[in-house]
Amino acid sequence: MEKSDLSTCVAYAPSSTANIGPGYDVFGLGLDVFEDKVTLSRMSTRSNRITIRATGDTNNSSNMVPSKLESNSAGLVIKKMSNDFGIDYDLDVSISKGVPVGFGMGSSAASAAAAAIAFDRLFDLEIDKPKLVEYAAEGEIASAGVKHYDNVSASVLGGFVIVRTNPKLEVIRIEPPEDLVLVIAIPLIRVPEGKTEKARNLLPHKVPLSDVVVTLSNASMVVAGFILKDVEMIARGIHDIIVEPARRDLIPGYIGVKKNALEAGSLAVTISGAGPSMISFLKTAKYAKHVANAMAMGFNEANVKSRTYISRPSPGARITNPKVSKNEK
Ligand code: HSE
Repeated sequence: MEKSDLSTCVAYAPSSTANIGPGYDVFGLGLDVFEDKVTLSRMSTRSNRITIRATGDTNNSSNMVPSKLESNSAGLVIKKMSNDFGIDYDLDVSISKGVPVGFGMGSSAASAAAAAIAFDRLFDLEIDKPKLVEYAAEGEIASAGVKHYDNVSASVLGGFVIVRTNPKLEVIRIEPPEDLVLVIAIPLIRVPEGKTEKARNLLPHKVPLSDVVVTLSNASMVVAGFILKDVEMIARGIHDIIVEPARRDLIPGYIGVKKNALEAGSLAVTISGAGPSMISFLKTAKYAKHVANAMAMGFNEANVKSRTYISRPSPGARITNPKVSKNEK
């Protein structure tokens, strides 16, 4: 029998930055600079087959989007949701990558988030947001080797998110200040396969209590800054003494980028997620271009080409066809 489309759903999910200094695996911020599009189509046949097609990643030529189900974040999400909801329709997952792959911009999370909300809508499941986040996190296993919820929460919900996983998953979303502007510098370096997993393996297993105290106070400043809509307070808290020192050597030009950005008017600079992108936090866009040039210069001084982007927080993932188009006649 010829396969035919019965129904299709199109979802978009934004890029994100995780950690935001002291909030390793806890803080995330949706960023409107890039987004992934996932088109999920249900076929008429029912043999539990999931086909992945990926196009794009036009921002970067070195990293490929895996089309094998087990290595693709959207594929893992769709597989898990199909199993859990007993859905045996053959599914076609078409991913159009807008988020650069492998640069700490929440690329795997964006595809996973879009896949989760597309699946939910396609099958009218009305899954609540925390559960959607949980499904989307399934996709992070493809790139990080484990589930982590910071990027997917930010991608699904948008805004600033705080993740708590123990004793159960809780995600709190806070609307960011309107004057928050982000400048992102992406170094055009070849990142190793499984970069996030490798960058996680570099981290210390034990840290001194004094470092925990510093980190807790910085993280509290970040949270308070988001609640009070105070960009300067957020920026004062963006100082990480545990994770960032363990990863900074992975980023050629790290010191220069940071120094240049701060001198050019950035209020805080940190590694975006597991890197290698660097992200600056600014109040208003006045110095944004200046900061972007300064960050690019920092990479340049280390003989690394880069691309810079100015971003605002994103409102989160969205569906473009709220009424699923059913072609079944
Ligand atoms: N919290 C994760 C990490 C984010 O730092 O490994 C990965 O983007």
